[in-house]
Amino acid sequence: MKVEGKHYRSIWLAADGWAAEIIDQTRLPHEFVIERLETLEDAARAIETMQVRGAPLIGATAAYGLCLALRTDASDDALEAADARLRRTRPTAVNLMWALDEMLGVIRNIPRADRVAAAYRRAGEICDEDVETCRAIGQNGLSLIEEVAANKPGKTVNILTHCNAGWIATVDWGTALAPIYMAHDKGIAVHVWADETRPRNQGAALTAWELNSHGVPHAIIADNAGGHLMQHGKVDLVITGTDRTAANGDVCNKIGTYLKALAARDNNVPFYVALPHTTIDWSIMDGVRDIPIEERDAREVTHMRGRTASGAMETIEISSPGSGAANPAFDVTPARLVSGLITERGVCAASHEGLLGLYPERRDDES
Ligand code: MRU
Repeated sequence: MKVEGKHYRSIWLAADGWAAEIIDQTRLPHEFVIERLETLEDAARAIETMQVRGAPLIGATAAYGLCLALRTDASDDALEAADARLRRTRPTAVNLMWALDEMLGVIRNIPRADRVAAAYRRAGEICDEDVETCRAIGQNGLSLIEEVAANKPGKTVNILTHCNAGWIATVDWGTALAPIYMAHDKGIAVHVWADETRPRNQGAALTAWELNSHGVPHAIIADNAGGHLMQHGKVDLVITGTDRTAANGDVCNKIGTYLKALAARDNNVPFYVALPHTTIDWSIMDGVRDIPIEERDAREVTHMRGRTASGAMETIEISSPGSGAANPAFDVTPARLVSGLITERGVCAASHEGLLGLYPERRDDES
């Protein structure tokens, strides 16, 4: 997607051909800063501190993290240590484990001398594949928006989204936002309700920044506003992303998604979840019970960072000093509340059978 007329991906190889470059998402929306990742530790820290975030981008960054580690030491021991370091960075988005498994698959059984080149090749492919996958998700989700638009001719389609599942959460296009970009580009009147997404405000900071840059009409809303807007007929459709989709169709996404799904069900608003195949965890059959939920620093709840009137970036305390805080970063929406899963292969029911219908090769794995 474009930033001030220039095309960017969210991660790319630097001109020297070996360092990875990223857009530092902790500085958005106020500053557009490109950061260079030169070491394994740079990549691991970028994921942990959420300079990069969003399930597919976490995976792509980990892939380059492994490349950077191998440049220094391509031995089996170093490979194992780098893999373990990266796996520890964030526990919920399964794309991280998927990308590392992919990388190990091509590196492990080849001579040391060939490892660096093979790693960079696969990391590049992972990025290119993600772009194409998200483009296909966009096309498949576009049909759903077109359907809604056809049922309210001449009127705007209002879509609510949570967190940021746009192009900077993936390598390009995004998942939940890809269909919205395509609908807007096609001339369909769309308007997005962007949940602010406390505590880290990915909606207010990142989704709004993306939509602004692309000229998509939108409004930031407090996380608690969604139910009210649905009750009053102001939401036609909810589309969110997911960090891990269980094989039974349960979807784990940014904390607060579950409450939106409950409100959507109570108000007969379709609730769709957009995802690439790399987000499906076929080993988990009960997402509510078995998906690990990242618990982040309580300071993310008690403090907020923002720009003051003088333009300085400052962190302020917003809660009663001395109070404890809990910060579960994700929740799981049970499949029964999900109207459908939008994947690169099409839209399916949020169920084991629905997923197997789109990914029949998985039936062989199970038999
Ligand atoms: O904690 P984050 O910002 O990494 O969480 C991101 C989300 O929850 C996204 O909705 C999800 O990764 C889907 S991104 C295409």
